[in-house]
Amino acid sequence: MDFEIKDLSLKDEGLLQIEWADRQMPVLRKIREEFEKTKPLTGCVIGACLHVTKETANLVRTLQAGGATVALCASNPLSTQDEVAAALVKEFGVSVFALRGESSEEYYRHIHAVLNFQPKITLDDGADLVTTLHRERRDQLGQVVGGTEETTTGVIRLRSMFRQGVLAYPIIAVNDAQTKYLFDNRYGTGQSVIDGILRATNLLLAGSVMVVAGYGWCGRGIAMRAKGAGARVIVTEVDPVRALEAVMDGYEVLPMSEAARIGDIFVTATGDTAVIREEHFRLLKDGAILCNAGHFDVEVDVKTLRSLAVSQRKIRPNLEELTMEDGRRIFLLAEGRLVNLAAAEGHPAAVMDMSFSNQALAALYLWQHQGGWAPGVYPVPKDLDERVARLKLESMGVHCDELTPEQAAYLASWEEGTA
Ligand code: ADE
Repeated sequence: MDFEIKDLSLKDEGLLQIEWADRQMPVLRKIREEFEKTKPLTGCVIGACLHVTKETANLVRTLQAGGATVALCASNPLSTQDEVAAALVKEFGVSVFALRGESSEEYYRHIHAVLNFQPKITLDDGADLVTTLHRERRDQLGQVVGGTEETTTGVIRLRSMFRQGVLAYPIIAVNDAQTKYLFDNRYGTGQSVIDGILRATNLLLAGSVMVVAGYGWCGRGIAMRAKGAGARVIVTEVDPVRALEAVMDGYEVLPMSEAARIGDIFVTATGDTAVIREEHFRLLKDGAILCNAGHFDVEVDVKTLRSLAVSQRKIRPNLEELTMEDGRRIFLLAEGRLVNLAAAEGHPAAVMDMSFSNQALAALYLWQHQGGWAPGVYPVPKDLDERVARLKLESMGVHCDELTPEQAAYLASWEEGTA
């Protein structure tokens, strides 16, 4: 077995973490128990590029239980939990290539190491595995049955590949399942981003002005939780419908050029580049804190920010101080990378339970329906999405209603109108 991780001796610590997360992942556990019995993924080699966390470890265990061979690398240089990587290698025999703090060169070397396993299914979070495969390992494309994509940014990249006619195989957009984005993106990001900010700074949120850039599902979650903690929340948006929604949800909406002057804490969650850039850095108050919740570290223009600084120092883990020429100090969290994964532990296991159950079921679906699909970006089949919701409700002891036959017939009819 091949692997590259930080320290195998961390394995016991990692195993405890994995077990702790597993307690909050009943849906995935149920799928794992089924997989153990029927081994539906026998013969399948899965190449996965995901955040190497305790929750991901439970997904990997599930795929393995189904009979798959899994090779795993990180989907972000700062998100790896080294103890989890050690346990995956030592306790579960998984080939893991991931080190917290790895360089860009190491990051891509690890992606290639996973591709060396000749995967038949790819599991990606951000599409770096898929794009590397399409750019540099084209000879392997023919053997890939399909893939899954975990996050909004990855789905956007894959749709761009499809539009340009370069996507070579079918990919299921797990991100777009209702049991994924309505929960993971909103409640998962909402909680874990606040967690990351607090672990890095221990600031009091009550009474502070928090600027949330982007009012997609992640931005909504962050704004909601920040408001709940007593922050005064300002939203910035480019989409007029989302901006209107933010207004009617009770937030102040401003252009970044105005928000920049008054914010205490800024969080980007747009998926786009240079959302906070030089023109805004020049307006920030002394003490302003910048962080990012989007997949890539492009939303805060960190390179320019550093070039404007006359001095930089590390205050504590994941918190840097950059002093501007005029003496203002600006604080940057987690180098502008995903603050929830770099400064905290990512989304809680209970929400990853649903995301990763979708991943496991989507991988199985691809494996069982090989061959019949043109390259493209496909939704998670609705019945899988609903199955995840039902299992989650069941695990919570919550019962919902069912349509009576009369109600079902009524909904399928047009004849009855105003009485
Ligand atoms: N993405 C966000 N949170 C995560 C977690 N805990 N594990 C894996 N991927 C994640």
